[in-house]
Amino acid sequence: MITAKRELPDWETLYQNEPIEKMPWFYEALDHDFANTLTQLNLTRGHLLDLGTGPGTQAIILAKMGFTVTATDISSSAIMKATQRSLEQQSQVDFIQDDILNSQLQKTFQIILDRGCFHVMHAEQRESYLKTTYRLLEPKGYLLLKCFSYLETMAEGPYRFTPEEITAFFNPWFKIHSIAASVFHGNREPLPQALFSVLEKK
Ligand SMILES: C[S@@+](CC[C@H](N)C(=O)[O-])C[C@H]1O[C@@H](n2cnc3c(N)ncnc32)[C@H](O)[C@@H]1O
Repeated sequence: MITAKRELPDWETLYQNEPIEKMPWFYEALDHDFANTLTQLNLTRGHLLDLGTGPGTQAIILAKMGFTVTATDISSSAIMKATQRSLEQQSQVDFIQDDILNSQLQKTFQIILDRGCFHVMHAEQRESYLKTTYRLLEPKGYLLLKCFSYLETMAEGPYRFTPEEITAFFNPWFKIHSIAASVFHGNREPLPQALFSVLEKK
């Protein structure tokens, strides 16, 4: 694992000052890996948490598809902007400011979708992330996780992982269904190399 501490944004300052459409991860369509997996698992309804929702694009589409969506982010400005976006699109999402490392959420979910939150957790924060995502999932619930891959070479940006690292980290608590090479859609060109993991709560 690449252990050097990476420099990450102050999320609240970023969302206060930047238009969400310009952010590297902004992607209006539903990420194809999440779309394909939900179809394969025959998941069309249910309580879903979009963790680190940012601009809220994924949450908004999933709510339109019929999921009951809660979407959280550490940044209250992200939540404000995502709420505004969702109102404009007449989509019903429960947007809540919440830090996954000190989560106040009490309900549980059938699916947690994480597109880019885990990979901005520093090494010492990951255990807390693991315990909380485990707590927030119903028995046999799914964590669908997209993070940067070790194959991504750009200097800046989030942490990167190998499939072996994802397996070793999540295996004690989650059954690993698959870890596939993918890309991270958004405003960056070329699209960053990613890993997409389908994990089921043990
Ligand atoms: C790479 S962005 C991805 C945003 C969004 N998932 C998307 O796909 O557009 C990572 C997001 O995680 C959020 N985040 C960072 N640390 C967090 C924490 N401790 N708890 C909740 N959200 C966090 C950031 O504010 C940011 O919106």
